[in-house]
Amino acid sequence: MSTNELEKLPFDCPNAALDKWIRKMASMCQPERIVLCDGTQQEWDRLTEQLVESETLVRLNPKLHPNSFLARSHPSDTARVEDRTFICSLRESDAGPTNNWHQPDKMRSMLKEKFHGSMRGRTMYVVPFCMGPIDSPLALVGVELTDSPYVVISMRIMCHMGQKVLHKLGAHGAFIPCLHSLGAPLEPGQSDVPWPCNDEKYIVHFPETREVWSYGSGYGGNALLGKKCVALRIASTIARDHGWMAEHMLIMGLESPGGAKTYLTAAFPSSCGKTNLAMITPPDKYLQAGWKTTLVGDDIAWLWPGKSGKLHAINPETGFFGVAPGTSWQSNPGAMHALAKNTIFTNVALTDEGGVWWEGLSPAPKHLIDWTGQDWTPDCGRLAAHPNSRFTAPAEQCPNIDPSWQDPDGVPIDAIVFGGRRPTTMPLVFQAFDWTHGVFLGATQGSETTPAATGLVGTVRRDPMAMLPFCGYNMGDYFAHWLDMRSHIRRLPRIFHVNWFRKDAQGKFLWPGFRENLRVLEWIVKRCQGRVPGYETPIGWTPDWEDFCVEGLEGFDEAQFDAAMEFRREDFLTEITSQNQFFLKLYHSMPKELLCQHELLMARMA
Ligand code: GTP
Ligand code: SPV
Ligand code: MN
Repeated sequence: MSTNELEKLPFDCPNAALDKWIRKMASMCQPERIVLCDGTQQEWDRLTEQLVESETLVRLNPKLHPNSFLARSHPSDTARVEDRTFICSLRESDAGPTNNWHQPDKMRSMLKEKFHGSMRGRTMYVVPFCMGPIDSPLALVGVELTDSPYVVISMRIMCHMGQKVLHKLGAHGAFIPCLHSLGAPLEPGQSDVPWPCNDEKYIVHFPETREVWSYGSGYGGNALLGKKCVALRIASTIARDHGWMAEHMLIMGLESPGGAKTYLTAAFPSSCGKTNLAMITPPDKYLQAGWKTTLVGDDIAWLWPGKSGKLHAINPETGFFGVAPGTSWQSNPGAMHALAKNTIFTNVALTDEGGVWWEGLSPAPKHLIDWTGQDWTPDCGRLAAHPNSRFTAPAEQCPNIDPSWQDPDGVPIDAIVFGGRRPTTMPLVFQAFDWTHGVFLGATQGSETTPAATGLVGTVRRDPMAMLPFCGYNMGDYFAHWLDMRSHIRRLPRIFHVNWFRKDAQGKFLWPGFRENLRVLEWIVKRCQGRVPGYETPIGWTPDWEDFCVEGLEGFDEAQFDAAMEFRREDFLTEITSQNQFFLKLYHSMPKELLCQHELLMARMA
């Protein structure tokens, strides 16, 4: 294809603006051909076949995992790259001190150079997608142009995609343009590699013009642009402008034996247990008593003040991009059902039977092919699966998917839960005194870093509302937006903070976690319904031992409960200092209410 603007696309494009944009981008990227994706099974079959041939995918044994595949990425392309993620607002102060910023015109001309010829020798796929139920008033239509067929098949699982979205877009509808290239052009005669990518990566957002440009990576949130780029970073700026919220939260329903149903959302940082909690199977004692859980979403929630007067929530996605290690029939049967078929696994290990394996799934097999493609034995000293290896699976395959999960009215929310990985300091559960205090808890939330992003693992960092890597604008303005929402919600949700990850002096988790987390949810639900008293402490309301059910929890006695719940003044003083350092970084945009919350906490501690 020539570098002059393309005169005509090889297919009919019903939307003139889209037609023009595709031609412009194709002239820049110079792909060998352009294909419009329709989202059909035939398209999936064709692309997966092609990816097996190019050795990007291995077809798994259909008896073990029907219609499922394993991909092994390049070892340099295994997670989100936060230091290469940019928010290019017109003013630097609109990106704020927690985002990487570049002047948009300069970034754009730099990117144009990068994208120039970047798809040579490859196919440019046109992927129309819709985040949110197609008939939801919040639904966002985007179009991703990508030279990665792996991205195309992943998008088909993760969101509404193809013909039905083009139909919604119509002749005059607006869309969010998302350009994605692996940055690995093929010169004539050059043979391809299984996982093309570029050492130099750019994940760039233009919040004012609502555009995404992603270069150099084929992995997860870097490349499936509907997810973090559109449904969080771009959506958060749209939500601020239009009075709703785009959050890094799971959404789940909890039905108590009487039949009352409570929906809650929870914001935990990446790889801190959202998928696990969203799909939670209650302990047997609870199942027998008639407790039921349902799943609406495991990663992203869009919230707005709904007709009921409560916050309503929808999940803008249709699939899970879940962390594999640690997932098992014991820890998360719902996920195991969801990933049983029609699933793409990335960077897990391959068994000799053509199945998959990862750390924590089951006792280690005697021999595997590890995520790098090498032979693996239990004594070889290497991990078989990458710590950020993931499964991409259709949400509807989860057995307890909520009947309302695609309802454009969403589900009414009674509780918002914050939390993170905190080996010390943070008790198992406590409740905020009110909305403003709850926003303060979210704003000061911290967590040990995890393998979901490249870089250091295991140091505590502030990750407000679990949105540090995903907020498309100034974090201080984002806090102000949270505070402002209070006056638009007639029936405010209660706000809680949990910590499944506190450890004893020997480094052992003080709380068994996983299915047992339902016991904490029970207390949360009862607090929302006004059915249990809370015990007032300087940091919030906490459960009394008598009000916390441990029946059937072997060995978990009152002393253990006290250890998991302990509030230690000296630890909290260190905590407050660290919170304050973070607030200072945001000083210029920090809402006064939150500084006041900080003062109040100091006063209660004194
Ligand atoms: P993203 O998809 O990255 O946004 O993360 P997520 O929050 O959905 O993470 P996920 O649920 O996949 O977290 C997986 C990690 O959390 C694994 O290491 C699990 O072992 C661990 N985990 C989940 N729930 C619990 C729990 O209750 N207790 C403990 N100790 N670990 C847990
Ligand atoms: C996260 O890191 O929070 C994820 C995975 O959910 S990714 O889509 O790669 O960002
Ligand atoms: Mn996430």
